[in-house]
Amino acid sequence: MREAAQSDQVRLARLGAYPFERLKALLSGCTANADVAPIDAGAGEPRLPLPAFVADTIAASLNGFSKYPSTIGSPALRQAIADWLQRRYGLTHIDAATQVLSANGTREALFAIAHALINPEAKKKPYVLMPNPMYQIYLGAALTAGGEPVFLPCTADHGFAPDLDAVEAPVWENTALTYVCSPSNPTGWIADSDYFARLLELADKYDFYIVSDECYSEIYWQDKPVGLLQVAASLGRHDFSRCLVMNSLSKRSALPGMRSGLIAGDAELIRRFTKLRSYTGPATPLPLQAVAAAAWSDETHVQQHLEIYRQSLKAFFDIYGGEIPAGSFFVWLPVEDDEAFAVAAFKQQAVTILPGSYLAAEDQHGVNPGRGYIRAALVDGPDCAAELARRLRAVRI
Ligand SMILES: Cc1ncc(COP(=O)(O)O)c(C=O)c1O
Repeated sequence: MREAAQSDQVRLARLGAYPFERLKALLSGCTANADVAPIDAGAGEPRLPLPAFVADTIAASLNGFSKYPSTIGSPALRQAIADWLQRRYGLTHIDAATQVLSANGTREALFAIAHALINPEAKKKPYVLMPNPMYQIYLGAALTAGGEPVFLPCTADHGFAPDLDAVEAPVWENTALTYVCSPSNPTGWIADSDYFARLLELADKYDFYIVSDECYSEIYWQDKPVGLLQVAASLGRHDFSRCLVMNSLSKRSALPGMRSGLIAGDAELIRRFTKLRSYTGPATPLPLQAVAAAAWSDETHVQQHLEIYRQSLKAFFDIYGGEIPAGSFFVWLPVEDDEAFAVAAFKQQAVTILPGSYLAAEDQHGVNPGRGYIRAALVDGPDCAAELARRLRAVRI
């Protein structure tokens, strides 16, 4: 018993402070330039107007607050999700009852899934592969679930694709789970069909699962991103075996405070995850599930948001220069020293951004591929994006 508790502590100890905590510590004691209005480009929190249907749907569903919501999601929500997946990815069929779950925001689901899918006894060493830099939840999930993280470097010379060739055969043989994030936070890389197809081939060969985080699927510069389920279906894999995708209303519908997302794919993995979730109970309140069903059923607001993100990206890069990322609303910019740049941006320009090294881990060669980059989120519309670009250009370290 004591040994188990100690090993839990060791696992937690391997987790560093969350990036925003580190940022807070970095900037504590610094004073922002008071002559200009602050710009917070640190968090990936869309700040667009609420879609019109939100208030009406909540008002019509208020009674739902007097009931316990089920964690799997109401039948109406799961059907709205299944319909959206079919429309968006051209799937012939996805079964709302067995292949779809509601998530209380995808953050919790991305974390919890490792606990449902990793069996620390099944492989010699259950490796969990993830991009590096990455959304930090994958790392926390791997470590707390008893997995061993393996980092796939995402560097400019490979177009920021997580490098599958960097993985040696013995690691593949012991891989339990691979996280992929497309469009990527923070680099903006988008997986193409060939990338997903290769990952599927490797998953079959080495017997592991793929969790595809597609939260930014509706935010892209030119080409609409493909999704893992779409590629699986195009290869005749209509049961989506080994695959789960997660997507969110936080980004697509600019509803991060609502805490609603989707989980979909392989019915057997959904069954296992449902069992775990019936104990942990991450349910979204019923009135919010009603809003979520409305949000998955409406594309007008999504198109309006996309237009704003595109204008913001253009406004930023017209002034800052450089290449517009393929997807997401983040810019990932090379700088000489990412921490020093973040401090200088705050002090000189009242701008909050994240040092890239906080979003990546040191790999087995001691390299942190986020070092020398900063991440800024374009979440306040084109005028603010233009102003952000002007201020970042003016930063001196
Ligand atoms: C890559 C990625 N995945 C998942 C999430 C989680 O979003 P939510 O929990 O709001 O659905 C985020 C949020 O920033 C993200 O950047």
